Amino acid sequence: MGDREGSHSIDPMSEPLDESERSDPSADAVPMLHLQGIWKSFGPKEVLRGVDLDVRRGEILTLLGASGCGKSVLLKVITGLITADRGEVLFDHAHLEKLSDREMALMRRRIGMVFQSAALFDSMTVADNVAYGLRVQGRRGMKPEAVTERVAWALGAVGLGDSGALMPAELSGGMRKRVGVARTIALRPEVVLYDEPTTGLDPINSSRIGDLIAELRQKLDVTSVIVTHDLALAYRISDRLALLHEGRVAAIGTVAEVMASTDPVVRELLDGRAAELG
Ligand SMILES: Nc1ncnc2c1ncn2[C@@H]1O[C@H](COP(=O)(O)OP(=O)(O)OP(=O)(O)O)[C@@H](O)[C@H]1O
Ligand SMILES: [Mg+2]
Repeated sequence: MGDREGSHSIDPMSEPLDESERSDPSADAVPMLHLQGIWKSFGPKEVLRGVDLDVRRGEILTLLGASGCGKSVLLKVITGLITADRGEVLFDHAHLEKLSDREMALMRRRIGMVFQSAALFDSMTVADNVAYGLRVQGRRGMKPEAVTERVAWALGAVGLGDSGALMPAELSGGMRKRVGVARTIALRPEVVLYDEPTTGLDPINSSRIGDLIAELRQKLDVTSVIVTHDLALAYRISDRLALLHEGRVAAIGTVAEVMASTDPVVRELLDGRAAELG
């Protein structure tokens, strides 16, 4: 795998995106991810009931929806951790369900997921947690010095440059969360799915994660899908918002379009949350 980093350093505290830096929402590109008619039930409970969603290459799409509506399930369907009962997932033109195990393994490397709860290896230092995936992948290539450099970059990007030697038990919840993000971005996936990346973080670290997501797109053309209840984050960095409701995408559009929507379902979610936040 080529190194897509170059020599720049990502400054996680840089300015928020200008409108001109958001990806062109009218771009008629072939989607990076194409989901069509995704259904998933657990026992009698139909969680996903025909989700259609395209995620464009290089865009930041935020998925909103009430707690329990199936957002995490949908992300897991995209990564192949959960198999849909029906429907198609295409990643960069390839049907996930038709791939061989080997092709699936290669494809998986191109998609990274930041889980809602960052499960770290408790017996390994922070740096070794972040290096783990690189070492596993790196059997055929990545030199130890390159691993060390990549780990330092990833920890620096989430503001934990000094914490590599700590053990997970020594971390706060917010720090664990950021190690989870570092571990995922260290692998340089083309698509990153973030499940609640800022929950439990203080405003400075939330904003740092938001800036990082935006910069990964600007500098490395990473495609991002964010699940969050953090509307401030969603409004600030997303190109588009999608709203999951009753198992389907009930609304999708640019931030401005969705914010201007008069659809009662959209209003309830946005204004209800805004009232809670405000
Ligand atoms: N492995 C599973 N087995 C059974 N039910 C599940 C499983 N995973 C999820 N569910 C159910 O699917 C529904 C959607 O769960 P999901 O975790 O996707 O919600 P969510 O939208 O991510 O909520 P939150 O915002 O609280 O994280 C819930 O009712 C949950 O209980
Ligand atoms: Mg969830």
